[in-house]
Amino acid sequence: MDFRELSFPGAPLIKTPPPGPKSKEHLDYQSFHEGSAVSYPRAMPMALSRAKGATVEDVDGNLYIDFFGGAGVMNVGHSNPEVIEAATSQLTNLTHSLDVPNPARRALVETLLSLLPDSLNKVFFGGPTGSDAVEAAIKLARYNSQFYPLIAFEGGYHGMSAGALSLSSGLGFKEDFLPLLPEVHFVPYAYCYRCLFRKKPDSCELDCAKYLEHILEDPHSGVGKPAALIVEAIQGEGGSIVPPDQFIPKVREICSKHGIILIVDEIQTGFCRTGKMFAFEHTGILPDIVTMSKALGGIGFPISCVAYKEELDTWPPGKHIGTFRGHVVAYAAGRVALNFMVENKLVEHASHLGRSMLSWLNEIEKDSKIVGEARGKGLMLGIELVKDKESKEPAPELAKRVRASCHSHGLLIEIGGHFSNVARFLPPLILTEELALKGIEIFEDAIREAEKSMKV
Ligand SMILES: Cc1ncc(COP(=O)(O)O)c(C=O)c1O
Repeated sequence: MDFRELSFPGAPLIKTPPPGPKSKEHLDYQSFHEGSAVSYPRAMPMALSRAKGATVEDVDGNLYIDFFGGAGVMNVGHSNPEVIEAATSQLTNLTHSLDVPNPARRALVETLLSLLPDSLNKVFFGGPTGSDAVEAAIKLARYNSQFYPLIAFEGGYHGMSAGALSLSSGLGFKEDFLPLLPEVHFVPYAYCYRCLFRKKPDSCELDCAKYLEHILEDPHSGVGKPAALIVEAIQGEGGSIVPPDQFIPKVREICSKHGIILIVDEIQTGFCRTGKMFAFEHTGILPDIVTMSKALGGIGFPISCVAYKEELDTWPPGKHIGTFRGHVVAYAAGRVALNFMVENKLVEHASHLGRSMLSWLNEIEKDSKIVGEARGKGLMLGIELVKDKESKEPAPELAKRVRASCHSHGLLIEIGGHFSNVARFLPPLILTEELALKGIEIFEDAIREAEKSMKV
């Protein structure tokens, strides 16, 4: 398929600086009638009318290149025609089934199992969001383990529901709601740009993983034997952090040695995003439980799933229930989206285009005073902005400025990272090289503009 046909032609095109008058009217209505926790429209002030492929149109007729991808949902592109067709035909047949079997559900299960390693041979659909998958994984792990504590990583993000939020490290999200689940312990991730142990990736001996080993082996660590450990093979919200190759295998080894169930959260990294179907495939390890959501629903139909080893399938009927246990339209959409990914080689495309984009970003990094590090894998990229490359002082204000400048020139990006100073790209994986280049040019201009603002 020619990916150019999937997006609107002519992007970016800014007819009226955003927010234009129609957008503004929607935003005013929203801020008057909806709760003040609404957040994305504050970062990207506009109202949306249509979206296609890797492009988005606002109600004022502005066209944007989308490096945000609905927070990593739109792997096969907005309004993917094959997914729309499957979802539309499912809509007129069956839309709700709880967990009663049906052909659409079965077809998605078959497709998922064909993509997962053989050892992950059970799948389970719970509530529709990524957070729901994490809750299910926590319960499954605890049900199978005689232990209670959980281990998570600094910089990890796993969702907003109580259990998932307990496992997420960002204090901004959780500090007003404490206490959450007790006995959750955080250990350092391999965030080499800001290595806690002051090592360099080429000379380090994985001190961060050794610290995990230490807290499990020292009787005075204060950490009881855990039921499970949850990890992202590449951290997303934490700032697109790619650990060194040996880190996840070491974590796997430690979990196996200590009888700890290893949950790999693929909610953001899954389904070709990082240049593999699942990010754990880069590491050669096998997880015990995998959580999936986001791109699983094809074009934004909410659905989540856990896959796990059969030996963990000990929970009895009804142990984890809910009205929405998967969604029939999402099954149909998801199956066709997964087929689209395979048929159109999105693994290879994400890997190849991601490598080109990272090399362009590395060029910008070389010349820039504020790009501390450009990093990532596949089409999950992060650009860490700092006030000074020597001290690495984080620059969250510059990140906001860059995002605003990108938006006003027709490019949507995300911000994340420990200090909210990492510009993040999670574009639809059907992004063309042409749109990628145009987007990077807008980003580079925004970086230059932000640098100038520092001199004043
Ligand atoms: C790795 C990871 N896990 C879990 C979640 C939570 O998913 P949701 O927002 O659908 O609850 C997210 C969301 O960004 C995520 O990136």
